[in-house]
Amino acid sequence: MPTQSTSKQLWRDVQVFDGLVQLSEAMTVLVEDGRIAGLWPAREFNEARAEGAACAGRGGVLTPGLVDCHTHLVYAGNRAGEFEQRLEGVSYEEIARAGGGILSSVRATRAASEDELIAASLPRLDALLADGVTTVEIKSGYGLTVADELKMLRVARRLGELRPVRVITTLLGAHALPPEYAGRADDYVSLVCDEMIPAAAAEGLADAVDVFCEGIGFSPAQCERIYQAAKAHGLAIKAHAEQLSNLGGSALAARYGALSADHIEYLDEAGVRAMAEAGTVAVLLPGAFHVLRETQLPPIELLRQYGVPMAVASDANPGTSPICMPTLMANLACTLFRLTPREALSGMTAQAARALGRLDLGRIEVGAPADLCLWDIQQPAELAYAVQAGRLRQRVFNGEVVYAR
Ligand code: NIG
Ligand code: FE
Repeated sequence: MPTQSTSKQLWRDVQVFDGLVQLSEAMTVLVEDGRIAGLWPAREFNEARAEGAACAGRGGVLTPGLVDCHTHLVYAGNRAGEFEQRLEGVSYEEIARAGGGILSSVRATRAASEDELIAASLPRLDALLADGVTTVEIKSGYGLTVADELKMLRVARRLGELRPVRVITTLLGAHALPPEYAGRADDYVSLVCDEMIPAAAAEGLADAVDVFCEGIGFSPAQCERIYQAAKAHGLAIKAHAEQLSNLGGSALAARYGALSADHIEYLDEAGVRAMAEAGTVAVLLPGAFHVLRETQLPPIELLRQYGVPMAVASDANPGTSPICMPTLMANLACTLFRLTPREALSGMTAQAARALGRLDLGRIEVGAPADLCLWDIQQPAELAYAVQAGRLRQRVFNGEVVYAR
């Protein structure tokens, strides 16, 4: 329930994780007109600054609202049957080549109306919000016709109107080859370049364009055509790359100035260097790694050495990561990929925002939009250490307390 009563609010005696680091002492944070207006060590705070301000919260840990920078939240149906098949030893790629996997979600999503997709997706969005998300990226990619891809993007935008959350949308027309284009992948890529991207851009439905650069997805040459079309329409670029094999998709994306390359388990040093040079963010998706029972680890140490920013996201989707709990992703990023809790939390705030090209989000700093989470914990690292729902005391969106308990 929204509980905002004044445009000037204070959080007192909070431990602050500012998106990059934990501040060393308890802080006082002032929010005015939807933005962070001041940030002081609590003992130095001058009460005159608080004139007319209501105390909105005291104690606990204050972080930026979480940014889930890679999700496939909009889809119909589910793939629990495939989960069982994989546990019996059938691989993700085998299921995909047999017409299941992404294409199974495509059949269900094509058959669903916008309202049905909203109804299916809202509980997933609500789960993300209950775990502290204030910005979520949502991809298309289960439509694979112009009309169905636009339908998914419209649903994504509508979700952002139904709930207090920022929704960033990404066109992922090149997610899989639809059956009607079997044997004609280049023709399908032409459809993506000549019709989907222009239509999504014209209707303002997409902020970015993504591709699945993989043996069961699209070749680097096909992805490059899509990047050229995206650039021509002024859209940002992202990649699902090096998830199951190393095709050089991340380096290609970096050459086109991609905001991020995501998954990257099979990324090599040349790819890391290309990303470092381009400032492309490495989006780590430990949920997909966990669910697929992957063993090839992303090159975390190389990413650190080259100074590539690392983000962490849920990849919430019906196949490889049916998980709508970003704080669990922080835990998995630490336990599976050996990120430090600080890196994991930064990966879900400041670095995730960078992966969306939103340098104004994911930070607690003066002037930034006041998207905040107040947690009932003592130290920020606890968010990555313990897996426990219900620790969120307040979620603040644009300076408004939109959830309080
Ligand atoms: O991020 N790798 C490709 N795309 C998704 C999975 C989509 C699906 O299996 O439905 C991913 O893992
Ligand atoms: Fe994905």
